[in-house]
Amino acid sequence: MRPFREEDVDAYAAVLQTRQVRASLHLPDDVGREHAWLGMAQQLGQWELRGTGQWALEEQATGAFVGRAGMHFPERGDWPGIEIGWALHPDYWGKGYATEAGAAAVEYAFVHHHVDALYSVILPENTASQAVARRLGFTLWEQRTFSHFPEMPHGIWRLQRTET
Ligand SMILES: CC(C)(COP(=O)(O)OP(=O)(O)OC[C@H]1O[C@@H](n2cnc3c(N)ncnc32)[C@H](O)[C@@H]1OP(=O)(O)O)[C@@H](O)C(=O)NCCC(=O)NCCS
Repeated sequence: MRPFREEDVDAYAAVLQTRQVRASLHLPDDVGREHAWLGMAQQLGQWELRGTGQWALEEQATGAFVGRAGMHFPERGDWPGIEIGWALHPDYWGKGYATEAGAAAVEYAFVHHHVDALYSVILPENTASQAVARRLGFTLWEQRTFSHFPEMPHGIWRLQRTET
């Protein structure tokens, strides 16, 4: 898990362009480098402004670009709080990488941010993402229809801080 770099743009665009990721994230068919670059810039900007954001993921054994995972805390009135999220190239699904990165992001978020709970915002149809959230200890808390995505309600999954 490392910060995004300018040279990630093609590999990140390739992740977003896969049929499976486009379908899961409801991205347009022509999603490409422009969208990927803006997304990377948004991640780095969020780190700078708020200390939240997602990391680029590399496979340790090969150095291959795998996707992204981490925190997301946008300036939106109806957003529940710091979200933990993930998106991987389908070639790297089924290996536990999202759960591994998600666990590291949860630990980082609770150490570096004074919050009582973390959230994961997941569409009801996205069972793969729900499974990652469940493996990390999140439970479904409520359904919410966001102003930026009025088509259908998202599930808000929540993980409360536990005293250790
Ligand atoms: C959501 C997403 C990241 C889940 O990916 P994933 O590979 O299923 O999740 P994980 O990396 O946690 O891997 C879990 C799978 O790896 C297997 N696995 C293998 N080794 C494992 C390990 N060491 N630890 C955990 N799981 C392991 C698990 O059994 C599980 O397989 P299964 O799906 O057959 O039960 C992926 O589907 C994705 O990128 N989707 C598109 C983007 C998206 O929807 N993002 C979320 C928006 S809310």
